[in-house]
Amino acid sequence: MNITRENGVMTLHGHSLIDIKNKYGTPLFVYDEALIRNQCRRFHTALQQSGLNYTISYASKAFTSIQLFKLMQEENMGLDVVSEGELFTALTAQFNPGRIHFHGNNKTKREIQYAIEAGVEYFVIDALDEIERINDIANQQGKSVKAVLRVNPGVEAHTHEFIQTGQEDSKFGLSINHGLALQGIQQIIASSNIEFHGIHFHIGSQIFESTGTIETIQIVIQWLKEHQIDIKVLNIGGGFSIRYTSDDISYPIEDGIKSITETLIATCESHDYPIPEISLEPGRSIVGEAGMTLYEVGTIKSIPGINKYISIDGGMSDHIRTALYNAQYEVELVDREEHELETVTVAGKLCESGDIIARNISLPQSIKSGDTLCVKSTGAYHYSMASNYNQMLKPAVVFVSDKGVRKVIKRQSLDHLIANEIL
Ligand SMILES: Cc1ncc(COP(=O)(O)O)c(C=O)c1O
Repeated sequence: MNITRENGVMTLHGHSLIDIKNKYGTPLFVYDEALIRNQCRRFHTALQQSGLNYTISYASKAFTSIQLFKLMQEENMGLDVVSEGELFTALTAQFNPGRIHFHGNNKTKREIQYAIEAGVEYFVIDALDEIERINDIANQQGKSVKAVLRVNPGVEAHTHEFIQTGQEDSKFGLSINHGLALQGIQQIIASSNIEFHGIHFHIGSQIFESTGTIETIQIVIQWLKEHQIDIKVLNIGGGFSIRYTSDDISYPIEDGIKSITETLIATCESHDYPIPEISLEPGRSIVGEAGMTLYEVGTIKSIPGINKYISIDGGMSDHIRTALYNAQYEVELVDREEHELETVTVAGKLCESGDIIARNISLPQSIKSGDTLCVKSTGAYHYSMASNYNQMLKPAVVFVSDKGVRKVIKRQSLDHLIANEIL
């Protein structure tokens, strides 16, 4: 992210984060628009260089927003949605439905109906009973739909166990090893109103390197060849890592995509198998590092010899990943640069002991109430996971570029909180 300091104050594309805070309030999600666009372009360039036919769908669960979807369309990205709400938001953004894929391990009948009416490009089928459900609804609408089958390759990605999805015991996909995936394909092919389009897998998230994906491509192509099943598309999901702290690596997009695409070509050639189009669904790696959260410091509590808690004006209602995964973050003082540091814990203001932003991190000793903290790499799975717990308001979101600062989502109002209440 293009952050520098001017007179000690953190700035993004020349805009002071203090000015931004004063104008839009806190908590506030601030995105570097140029970085989002750049990530899309890096994936495009890497895939173009492979010479393969490809598509990239942004995984909208990472951060769903109308203005972001417009930006994604400008960057020639498709979209992956998993619910009626995500699809509705995409359609409201006038996203081309022919470039939207509908996911989910339990698509409701209503969602299936809505997605077919909208004309999504394809469904990613996740279970055997879903095949009949989709076929029936398509039949009722007098339509034929395309589907890829999500398979479970039995590969364990090296990541946090809660965000691993490719191992055998998973609620996602159908297992290759237990014959369910083959049964699924046969069932789709036999369906009157579904056209079998290809295979999907997603082995996990925050994956630093390509080994697991490469292994999975080899397993899947060999398995398809063995069963003489041709596909038009191989969708390898998302999961490309970002840097939260110095312990992480931003996924090396150029090298990683090169080895993945080279593996696909070589594996197909060695099995004399037609090379399919490759499809990717990055979410976190598109928006994660481009976003940060600004908070204002409130209460500071020192427990001698034990800990110092710096409480901020948000918490697990806009930042759940620390409580959920014990995720680690870097936090910086925005207002000034100081080198006298101490170990502190940054806590939220919600009524849970687990409502912590970052534990035992180094921050300036001089931090006082009214100062501004910036939590980095919060662009993915923060706003989209935000809740109204403790009747907290969902924050506003701004995009910053060299053209200026623009609000893309307003802060919720107190009226929002009771909008559905029966008075
Ligand atoms: C099927 C599928 N595709 C794509 C993604 C996006 O993953 P990431 O944001 O880690 O790139 C996910 C994340 O859960 C997913 O389940």
